[in-house]
Amino acid sequence: MQAKNENVQISIDEMAVFCRRKGFVYPGSEIYGSLSGIFDYGPLGVELKNNIKKEWWKAFVQQREDIVGMDGAIISHQKVWEASGHLSGFSDVILECKKCKEKVRGDVFIEDQLKISTEGLKVKEINAIVKKNKLKCLKCGNEFKEASDFNLMFPVHLGANKDSSSVAYLRGETAQLIFANFKKIVENSRLKLPFGIAQIGKAFRNEISPKNFLFRCREFEQMEIEYFVKPEDNKCPYIKEVLNHKLKILSSEMQEKNQEEKEMAIKQALQKKIIKNEWHAYWLAHCNKWFISLGANPDNFRIRQHKKNELAHYSSDCWDLEYKFPFGFKELQGIANRSDYDLQQHIKHSGQDLSLFDEETKEKIIPHVVAEPSLGVDRAFLVFMFDAYDYDKKRDNIVLKLHPKLAPVKAAVFPLLKNKKPLVKKAREVYSLLKEEFACVYDEVGSIGRRYARQDEAGTFLGITIDFDSLKKNDCTIRSRDTQKQIRVKIKSLKDVIEQLIGGEKLSKFGKYIY
Ligand code: GAP
Repeated sequence: MQAKNENVQISIDEMAVFCRRKGFVYPGSEIYGSLSGIFDYGPLGVELKNNIKKEWWKAFVQQREDIVGMDGAIISHQKVWEASGHLSGFSDVILECKKCKEKVRGDVFIEDQLKISTEGLKVKEINAIVKKNKLKCLKCGNEFKEASDFNLMFPVHLGANKDSSSVAYLRGETAQLIFANFKKIVENSRLKLPFGIAQIGKAFRNEISPKNFLFRCREFEQMEIEYFVKPEDNKCPYIKEVLNHKLKILSSEMQEKNQEEKEMAIKQALQKKIIKNEWHAYWLAHCNKWFISLGANPDNFRIRQHKKNELAHYSSDCWDLEYKFPFGFKELQGIANRSDYDLQQHIKHSGQDLSLFDEETKEKIIPHVVAEPSLGVDRAFLVFMFDAYDYDKKRDNIVLKLHPKLAPVKAAVFPLLKNKKPLVKKAREVYSLLKEEFACVYDEVGSIGRRYARQDEAGTFLGITIDFDSLKKNDCTIRSRDTQKQIRVKIKSLKDVIEQLIGGEKLSKFGKYIY
C-alpha cells in the first residue's frame, strides 16, 4: 500500500484495504463472495462510527433548544413514498448493453469515460452524449440500448401475502419519517417555529453502480435535520455565530460561467447575495464548523450550489458541503431548501391536517423546510479517516490521528513485560479501572515498541504503560499517539487526566516530559 506523506494521498481503494486490514470495515458477506455496495463495520469501525453519531447527536440535538430527535422505522408504508414522490421521481439513468446486458449508471459512466461534469443530466441528454461520442459497453464493446430511468427504492413484502397491497419500502431517506410524524412531534415537544427535527438511521438505495467504497453504497446511514420556519422567514437568529467563517464557495452562476470556487466569509456571501437566505448560510457554515471541530482539515471543504437541472424533485435551492475525496470534490452533505413540498404532499395523500397555528397572525400555516442538512454517516466516516491518516516517516508507521473524541479506543494499557507477574497484575488493575469510563484495550503481545505502533495505526489516543517504577510509586506513563511524548501520572488521578486530555488539554499540563 502506498502510504500518505506530504505529497501523496492514499486512494479510496487503498483506504478500503487499510480499513479491512485493521478491522474498520469489511466487504459485506465476504465469505460468500461479497455483495456490491454493502459493507460491515468491524471492531474499530463500529466504535468510530458510533462516536461520529454520538458527537453529531450531542451537537445538533442535545445541546440545542430548537431541535428534537426521533427514530423512525426502516420499513414504511408505500403511501409515504408515493406522497414524497420517491416512487415516481427517485431514479438514476441506466444504460444497458444490447448484447451482454451489463448495466451502468449513465452519468457516472460518462463522467468516467469523458471526464466531464454530468451533474443533473437526464435521459435525453445522456442518450445524446452516448451517441455523439460513440460510447460502448466496457465489458463486451457493444452498443447500449436507449437510456432509461431506474427507480432506486427497495420494495419488500410484509406478511405472507405477496400482492401489491403488501408492498412496503425500505426507506430511501430518513427524512420522510420526520414529515410523517411531524404533527405528533410538534405537539409532544411543544415546539415553536423556528425548530428542527433530527434523526439518525439507515437508508437504502438500489444504486446501479455502487462505487468508491463507502462513498456510494446500497445500504448506508444518514444524519438528517428538517429545519422548519414560517414561510418567507429569512432571518436567522444564529447568523452572527458564522458570519466570519470562511469557506470556498462555488455558486450555480459561477459554474455556468466556468469560474473556479472563491474563498470568502459567509458575511460577504450574504452581502453579495451569492447565498440568498440567512438560514441556508447558517446551516452550511455550522455543519462545516462541526467537521472542523472534530479535526477535519478546513482546506478540504467547499460549498457548491446545485445547478437548476440538478435540483431534486422536492428542492427549490440546494447547496452541497463538498469534500475533496481522492477522486475529486464530491457531495458530503446536501443542504436543500425543501419549502413546504413534503408537508403539502402528505396533507394531500393522507388527508390529515399537518398545519400549525400561528399565534401572531392567528392563521393556520404550513411551515417551510428552509434547510435540510442531510449527511451520510459513512461519508463522514471517510472524511475523518482520510484527514487522520498519516504516514510518519520517522516511525515508519501509519498513525491515525483521529480527534480524541472520535478515536475508537481512548487508551491502551500495557505491562512493560508480559512475563513479569507484578507488572501484569498492576496493568490489569489499571485496565479494569479505566474500562469503566473509556473504550480501552489491554495489550501485552510483542515488544512495547510494536504495541505502540499497532495502537498508533488503530488511532488509539493514549498509551498507558506499567513499568517497574509503577510498582514502587503507584503511577504509570502516558504516551501521546501524535507526539510520542510521555509523562508520569499517579494512578489515582489517571481517570481525571484522561478525561481532560480527551477534552483538549495538553499532556504537559499534567507532568514533565520524560521522553
Ligand atoms: N433527505 C435528503 C437526501 O437524502 P441526498 O443528497 O440524496 O439527500 C443525503 O442524500 C446524503 O446522504 C448525501 O449527502 C450523502 O452523504 C448520503 N448518501 C446519499 N446516497 C448515498 C449512498 N448511496 N451511499 C452513501 N451515502 C449516501
